[in-house]
Amino acid sequence: MKKINIAVLGCGRIGQMHAKNVALHEMTSLACVYDINEDFANKVATDLGVHAVTKDSEIFSNAEIDAVLVASPTDTHIEFIEKSVAANKPVLCEKPIDLDINKVNESAERLKGNNVPIQLGFNRRFDPGHQEAKKSLLNGEIGDLYQCIITSRDPGMPSWEYLQASGGQFRDMTIHDFDLARFMLGEEPVKVFAIANALIEPKLKSDLNDSDTLMIIMETASGKQCHINNSRSATYGYDQRVELFGSKGMIVSDNRKPHEVRKFAKEFVNRQEPYLNFFIERYQEAYMNEITAFAEVVLNKSQPIVNFEDGRKALVLAETAYKSVKSGRMEKID
Ligand SMILES: NC(=O)c1ccc[n+]([C@@H]2O[C@H](COP(=O)([O-])OP(=O)(O)OC[C@H]3O[C@@H](n4cnc5c(N)ncnc54)[C@H](O)[C@@H]3O)[C@@H](O)[C@H]2O)c1
Repeated sequence: MKKINIAVLGCGRIGQMHAKNVALHEMTSLACVYDINEDFANKVATDLGVHAVTKDSEIFSNAEIDAVLVASPTDTHIEFIEKSVAANKPVLCEKPIDLDINKVNESAERLKGNNVPIQLGFNRRFDPGHQEAKKSLLNGEIGDLYQCIITSRDPGMPSWEYLQASGGQFRDMTIHDFDLARFMLGEEPVKVFAIANALIEPKLKSDLNDSDTLMIIMETASGKQCHINNSRSATYGYDQRVELFGSKGMIVSDNRKPHEVRKFAKEFVNRQEPYLNFFIERYQEAYMNEITAFAEVVLNKSQPIVNFEDGRKALVLAETAYKSVKSGRMEKID
């Protein structure tokens, strides 16, 4: 079977991981890498035995490259998505599409009518636990879904530089949970209520009008309920749980540990390993499954299960959450 030849743009934290996954994956090969910082690109290229290009145009004009993976900073995503589409190359782009909903809407207008696949990097949809939960729900194992509860807490505060450029907790962090909520609920939230505060780093509120601790309540048109809670820093580690509650039962997609060994002694009972460190470790299989899904889209000329419109809708929920924090009221989706 011919491998799908993928170029990776952006060789930072997540780009390095994606480049490695693409190189290792049985359905894909790494064509080349590109980063505005040539040293970063050269390092990844050397480690993975490919070449680094010095201009992004070398990727879009190369007929040997089947598809593109965008892992550069958020403010470059729209440009690279549109260049990929213009070059007729399917693209897997990291989240979020942009921090500005107007720019996303304008890009959606420009992209209207195109059928080049655009997959969004909402990796949690590909987590084996979350996928099993959704499958069981669709199989009717818990009957009618009433509530979806999502907990997502990071293991520690990012750097101040990161926070300054992040676009805010709802757009940067909760965006994953908005998408996961839509995925699990199977219908669109129509009302959003949110509270947010800077309880861990007060400077976030005073200097950036941002938060580190937030809670959201959402309701769908049929009355299904969803609660999301986020923290930028949980002392006990990366806390990632989804609970689905329905007429016939409950499903929990739980945290992951390196193994399930429990230790008991005079001083403690039930001692276990801490949770897997952060997103690269916790969602390792999800990122690989995301590449599988993308390769299948390219191979079968099909459309991705998570696309540009999903990215846009998650951002609309984030904007509505900001509106609710400001007004102190439950807000309807525009
Ligand atoms: N899905 C996830 O779990 C997840 C996790 C982390 C980050 N992300 C997203 O991935 C993107 C990258 O995040 P990161 O943490 O890897 O950032 P990063 O800052 O570590 O890496 C970004 C890289 O892009 C390079 N770059 C800057 N401008 C560029 C340009 N015009 N063209 C090519 N390369 C350019 C930088 O030199 C850097 O190496 C962000 O949009 C972020 O939101 C997603």
